[in-house]
Amino acid sequence: MNLNQESIQKSLAGEFFGHKLYYFSETGSTNDEAFSLGIAGAPEGTVVIADSQNKGKGRMQRVWHSPAGANIYTSIILIPQIQLSKASQIPILAGVAVAETLNKYCPEKVHLKWPNDVLIGGKKVCGILAQIKISKEAIDFVVLGIGINVNLSREQFPQDIKEIATSLLIETGCKISRLELIISLYENLAKCYKQLQQKGFGQIKEKWLRLTPMIGQTVQVMFKDEMIEGKAAGLDEDGSLILLTDGNKEVKVSAGDATILKR
Ligand code: BTN
Repeated sequence: MNLNQESIQKSLAGEFFGHKLYYFSETGSTNDEAFSLGIAGAPEGTVVIADSQNKGKGRMQRVWHSPAGANIYTSIILIPQIQLSKASQIPILAGVAVAETLNKYCPEKVHLKWPNDVLIGGKKVCGILAQIKISKEAIDFVVLGIGINVNLSREQFPQDIKEIATSLLIETGCKISRLELIISLYENLAKCYKQLQQKGFGQIKEKWLRLTPMIGQTVQVMFKDEMIEGKAAGLDEDGSLILLTDGNKEVKVSAGDATILKR
């Protein structure tokens, strides 16, 4: 079924997230749209959804493949009451919420890779990009962007990501209703967000640790031109990955791309 403003609006009306909704059949990037809305004073919970993006953005200045009619591209404005140093808790909680959502379609097969890739069978099915507006060392708002590969067939993936990305269609063999998926995504996001605001990061962190295959594994993290290798030992309160490097030295990594090394 095609997405449209009316059907999404009806489904999200009265919900914690999406009470204010902006739908585009095509836009540059839902994150850019949401950021502009945030600057203009849009309230927390404002949601942007697009059927396609012509400038979809990934982490580390990458492009996010965003064709029409198949996937979910959405961004939400959050105004979390947390310190700036804890801002990375937000994309971590989004990973947990997405994994819980996708688990319904692919039970026991969804995993998380730090910092916030959602994987099925080791292949990426969802990417999360958080962008923060800061003033005076405090968070003004966070734009949380989520892209989920839903009904894309293997042939529709660009050559360079064919082997490392997947979709729900590929994994389940079934076409999935994007509207149902959006509703359940925003329900789970609201649940995790309330948990963070009311009870702190503890339960989200526990869920994340249960959903990741990384702990105890040797991982390599690349950031810009630097590479660090160590055994993944845990997740810090600020969302950093805790690594034990040679000589059992504890190092916290706050950004980068992680690879689990097969030994
Ligand atoms: C990643 O590199 O893993 C993050 C990808 C994030 C993609 C989503 S799609 C919706 C939102 N708008 C964007 O331009 N990017 C995010």
